[in-house]
Amino acid sequence: ETKRYIIDDINLSIEQLRRKIEITEAASRLRAGDLVAFPTETVYGLGAVVTSEEAIARIFEAKGRPSDNPLIIHIGKKEQIYEWAQLVSKQAERLIDAFWPGPLTLVLPHRDHIAKNVTAGLPTVAIRMPAHPIALALLQETGIPVAAPSANRSGKPSPTSASHVWDDLQGRIDILLDGGRSGIGVESTVIDMTGEVPVLLRPGGITLAQLEGVVGKVETDPGLINDSQTPRSPGMKYRHYAPSGEMTIVSGNGEFLQDLVDQARAEGKKTGILTTSENVDKYRADVIIPCGDRKEPVTVAKHLYASLRQFDDRGVEVIFAESFPETGVFHSVMNRLRKAANGKIV
Ligand code: TXA
Ligand code: MG
Repeated sequence: ETKRYIIDDINLSIEQLRRKIEITEAASRLRAGDLVAFPTETVYGLGAVVTSEEAIARIFEAKGRPSDNPLIIHIGKKEQIYEWAQLVSKQAERLIDAFWPGPLTLVLPHRDHIAKNVTAGLPTVAIRMPAHPIALALLQETGIPVAAPSANRSGKPSPTSASHVWDDLQGRIDILLDGGRSGIGVESTVIDMTGEVPVLLRPGGITLAQLEGVVGKVETDPGLINDSQTPRSPGMKYRHYAPSGEMTIVSGNGEFLQDLVDQARAEGKKTGILTTSENVDKYRADVIIPCGDRKEPVTVAKHLYASLRQFDDRGVEVIFAESFPETGVFHSVMNRLRKAANGKIV
């Protein structure tokens, strides 16, 4: 049975949050090897202490996650990175100073004592220090880093509210810390810092331009752009973030999108359109979901996963999504949409 604790006193300091009974209980349950879901500033995470191989194994089981997909370690204090990463370069330290706590995950060579199932046997480990007060309080109170993938069933859109976690994992995890909606709405940016030049493995909460502003040139993993190459971040190779309906991204104008919808409706399919507030009135379909405002890219990112889940809730069979420019915040939105659509873009 999963316990759900609501924590809604958002004005408390980290120190005050640490002393709340829900947090102290969750921290001691984590230390005992239990699974705790918690909000972060990106999406909800499903945590287990990094020191327990059995607890980590339960994460994979609860999510139905393939074992070749490694986890991100979450730390509550910057200096904990040195206990788990073998080598933290000057460049990596610059990124830490600029963006931690925050939505940036660094991939670094790991030390020997890390459990194999955290890293899926890779020579590297992914680490981040989240910015959400509940996450920070929980991590600091636990005292041990917490490995945490997004708290969804594998393949589903990541959870941006406690209800999403509840729908996916109720009965499979021990505690859900309900802190309302998470902030940014897409996951952290993952950057590989093991080579001469940093490599972007997953676009996310920190944009490429922000990264380059701190460390200069950042390469992009060819596997992110080119479907014929295997991504270096194992998680990026799966159809992911996906609603149950079949999704197509439509570049080009709204009339073309409407034609495709009309065609699907003529075939008797329940149709859905993912658009933005500016365009809702332009379309006809069974379900039309405005996902934020195109003029404010952060609002699109924030509502993306909840919108994808709504198509499922309403039994939509075919979904057509408007396309976005692949820059700035929209870069991560388009990356997730492509995954959700299994690369299908017309
Ligand atoms: O915002 C986030 O990062 C959220 C919150 C909960 O912190 N977490 C998250 O975890 O998105 P997850 O497991 O859904 O995604 C982790 C990504 C996967 O694509 C995984 O393959 C990649 O990070 N990753 C983990 N360790 C890696 C490594 N050593 N090398 C390359 N990629 C790695
Ligand atoms: Mg995930």
